[in-house]
Amino acid sequence: MFWKKIAESRDELFQSGKELTEIDVDGRTLCIGIHQEKLKACAAKCPHAGGKMAAGYVDALGNIVCPLHRYKFSFESGRNVTGEGYFLKIYKVEERSDGIFIGMEEKKGLFG
Ligand code: FES
Repeated sequence: MFWKKIAESRDELFQSGKELTEIDVDGRTLCIGIHQEKLKACAAKCPHAGGKMAAGYVDALGNIVCPLHRYKFSFESGRNVTGEGYFLKIYKVEERSDGIFIGMEEKKGLFG
């Protein structure tokens, strides 16, 4: 895994009042959000049928809710807490004094 800087600060990422947004990181689109003052990140598309996660919301329990069919996923683990059996990819996020970073997996090379 390697850390990729995505912004200097939260203000750069979110429009006022928004808790979810999309960002492009290293050729991938991710959804990034805030829950209880902590930054979280996941795949931009719902594993069920491709719903745009950034157009959903985060519920009081910290689950991200897909706007299409309202399946819920833990923003911690990616577990599909409404029981449909899907799994949402979660990315690590770190806020450091020099910016906001996302933990990305190495892309597999020709021989990897
Ligand atoms: S596409 Fe997300 S719940 Fe169906």
